[in-house]
Amino acid sequence: MTKPNRIPMLPQAGNRQWSASVNEKSVSKSIPSDAVLLDVLRDRVGTLGVKRGCDMGTCGCCAVLVDGEPRLSCLTMAAEVDGKKITTVEGLADGHHLAPLQETFTTYGGSQCGFCSPGFLIVASALLEKNNDPTDEEIKNAVEGNLCRCTGYQPIVDSIRAAGKILRDGKEATNPTDPHSNPHPGFKGDDS
Ligand code: FES
Ligand code: FES
Repeated sequence: MTKPNRIPMLPQAGNRQWSASVNEKSVSKSIPSDAVLLDVLRDRVGTLGVKRGCDMGTCGCCAVLVDGEPRLSCLTMAAEVDGKKITTVEGLADGHHLAPLQETFTTYGGSQCGFCSPGFLIVASALLEKNNDPTDEEIKNAVEGNLCRCTGYQPIVDSIRAAGKILRDGKEATNPTDPHSNPHPGFKGDDS
């Protein structure tokens, strides 16, 4: 008796070469052609600052910038952004110096447990890039797709408003010699 031909229910995706600029570094990886950007960034590129919250487009934790525009990486196919410039939360700081938004999220209480912070920081950075003097209403509209279980949201609005002021005044977030600007204050460098 001959066996009937079976059609697999879940055909395997082939692999494809995927290249992008992630936080100003060129990366090239062999990935399944149906890979989701969030999985590629966390599991293949190693940018673990991109958080997996709901995995279904409702929490904003996984937001990244694609060519400067915020996108939910859990709802983006990696193939769609092949060749593009991707910025994750790791790409916002300037070396050891926090970006103004990162600094104000710490000083104004916009980050508490911190799980939601990468998504808020990414979305807020896109807002301030276009408008560094937003009203509270504009800030709230910008972050309406981001959920936070800790802060009650007002400290996040305050943090974003304060970062806008730093950007307008053209100041650095902190004095570079201030130990708060160094995320590894115990590390004294090679000649210690
Ligand atoms: S993990 Fe993408 S929106 Fe929640
Ligand atoms: S700081 Fe904990 S979820 Fe926002």
